[in-house]
Amino acid sequence: MKKIYLGTNTKMYKTIKDSVEFVKALAENTKEIPREKIELFVIPSYTAIGPSREAVSKDLITIGAQNMHWAKEGQFTGEISPVMLDEVGAQIIELGHSERRHKLGERDIDINKKLLTSLGYGFRPLLCIGETKEQKDAGDALKTLRIQLNVGLDGVKEEDIAKIMVAYEPVWAIGVEGIPASPEYAEEIHKEIRALLVQLFGEKGKEIPLLYGGSVNNENYSALIGKDEVDGLFIGRSAWNADNFTTIINGVYRQMFK
Ligand code: PGA
Repeated sequence: MKKIYLGTNTKMYKTIKDSVEFVKALAENTKEIPREKIELFVIPSYTAIGPSREAVSKDLITIGAQNMHWAKEGQFTGEISPVMLDEVGAQIIELGHSERRHKLGERDIDINKKLLTSLGYGFRPLLCIGETKEQKDAGDALKTLRIQLNVGLDGVKEEDIAKIMVAYEPVWAIGVEGIPASPEYAEEIHKEIRALLVQLFGEKGKEIPLLYGGSVNNENYSALIGKDEVDGLFIGRSAWNADNFTTIINGVYRQMFK
């Protein structure tokens, strides 16, 4: 049975206090779930990474960062370096979230530099990809995803492939205005993404965890995780309450492993 990945990016919402309470509650609620079956990760804001890391065991919750600069240090006001994120205990680096691409102008070429740097520092990059509604309606979803993957993953060394995770998050599905992808659509696109990963990396491309994100909620998580090519769920709003996230985690565990 494949390993499942369940995680949340708390965006610009939780303070240090909120984040610490959140990860503590999540760790406590889910401590019986075997982590070789389900890995849980939380990606808080920068200020909360260190305190969240210290609040719970690494064995229970993996902590990540929502972005990272590609340089070790330098004249980059307002940015954060891999050394700084390593110092506070981040393990996953989320890259290319749709809000960074579409609200903050991040390009595939920037994301690629960050991804290669993150691998160089021993992080696990979580590359987010997804088409906009316009691209979908124009029949360009696959073309968009192909570019995001080809550029985003350019230059990854063979020995680093196993550290990568990919999240498919269609832009039209994310956030308060989002309409969740149907489980069938998610599966269809995940199959295409898997094929692209195999084109890029051969057999090793089959091992890259492929998560779905975008309006995952209590009603649709079960059908989504039930799809063969969906290895995990990357959840926003529905995960930010620890008890609700626990309900989803327990539901996935029962469905997939019991
Ligand atoms: P959402 O966010 O679940 O609130 O739609 C998903 C995301 O932005 O990753």
